[in-house]
Amino acid sequence: MTATITIDVHLDEADMDRALRDDVRDGLTMSPKTLPPKWFYDETGSRLFDDITRLPEYYPTRREREILEARAGEIAAVSGATALVELGSGTSTKTRLLLDALRDAGTLRTFAPFDCSEATLRDAGASIAAAYPGVSIHGVVGDFERHLSLLPGDDHQGSRLVAFLGGTIGNLAPAERAKFLNDLAGGLFEGEHLLLGTDLVKDRERLVSAYDDAAGITAAFNRNVLAVINRSLDADFVLDRFEHVAVWNDDEEWIEMRLRSDRVHDVRINDLDLTVSFDKGEEVRTEISAKFRREGVEAELQAAGFDVERWWTDAAGDFALSLAVRR
Ligand code: SAH
Ligand code: TRP
Repeated sequence: MTATITIDVHLDEADMDRALRDDVRDGLTMSPKTLPPKWFYDETGSRLFDDITRLPEYYPTRREREILEARAGEIAAVSGATALVELGSGTSTKTRLLLDALRDAGTLRTFAPFDCSEATLRDAGASIAAAYPGVSIHGVVGDFERHLSLLPGDDHQGSRLVAFLGGTIGNLAPAERAKFLNDLAGGLFEGEHLLLGTDLVKDRERLVSAYDDAAGITAAFNRNVLAVINRSLDADFVLDRFEHVAVWNDDEEWIEMRLRSDRVHDVRINDLDLTVSFDKGEEVRTEISAKFRREGVEAELQAAGFDVERWWTDAAGDFALSLAVRR
């Protein structure tokens, strides 16, 4: 049997363009300046992120894989899922451990990757289809902050497991996170599951070097958002006028990624008819990556309508996976 692939596109080029314009105009005309992280992931950005996952300093991917290797069988047994939905799926590499376990348990029928990066989603969908014959692929190109009501598999024909891996939830600010979890819970039926990956609070040095590697890949990834704006909105950012900065905010318990202007200069964004002035040393905040503690994760899940059934960490206690059920 050959696999079927369907892709729903809820974010077409016109939507993306409108959202990018709004985000760039709003973010670069406020003080301090900000840019939202979803614009990192064009084809170059997705490739650079993939390189980040293999960096010696970037432990989260390896730690999360270690947990999945140990627990995928238990996740399949507890969830009994017929459909695996993956939010912010990227290349879906670690996800294969879950697909293998669900296939071995005999329940798996559908894999539904959901990502805002259409090219990455199509590539991942095609390679998973080739590796898992008989599994239907139902991809969704969407924004998980706006399109969660459009999750596939809401036909009561089986039970879903939604995976949100990589610590990506930490890229949402606390209020956005609460809305995200509420919307997600609202789209699931009682008894369906969420598998959530969260990076944990640890010493500052390891956290900062995970986001400021020696080879400069994270710096290139951070600056790439400026290249996305140059190309999409006819702007003239000079990338090497911006220094990559990663700082640990101890009060908020998150890493902040910034781009710091090395001089006084103006940037022209033609498609917005906007000139943005930078002072020497002025920073644009591009991303937060929140780090968690067990009590916090459990409280946030509980408040959104989930009961935590399992909590696992890797042997070093660096990263956690929570398996929660919609109550
Ligand atoms: N899950 C993978 C990839 C994490 S990188 C891993 O664990 O390694 C974050 C992924 O989320 C990228 O593929 C990016 O394109 C996607 N993403 C970021 N913001 C998004 C949003 N608002 N809606 C949908 N996908 C988003
Ligand atoms: N979700 C990943 C994280 O927070 C994304 C990421 C890794 C990232 N390195 C980055 C985002 C550097 C921006 C800049 O760990």
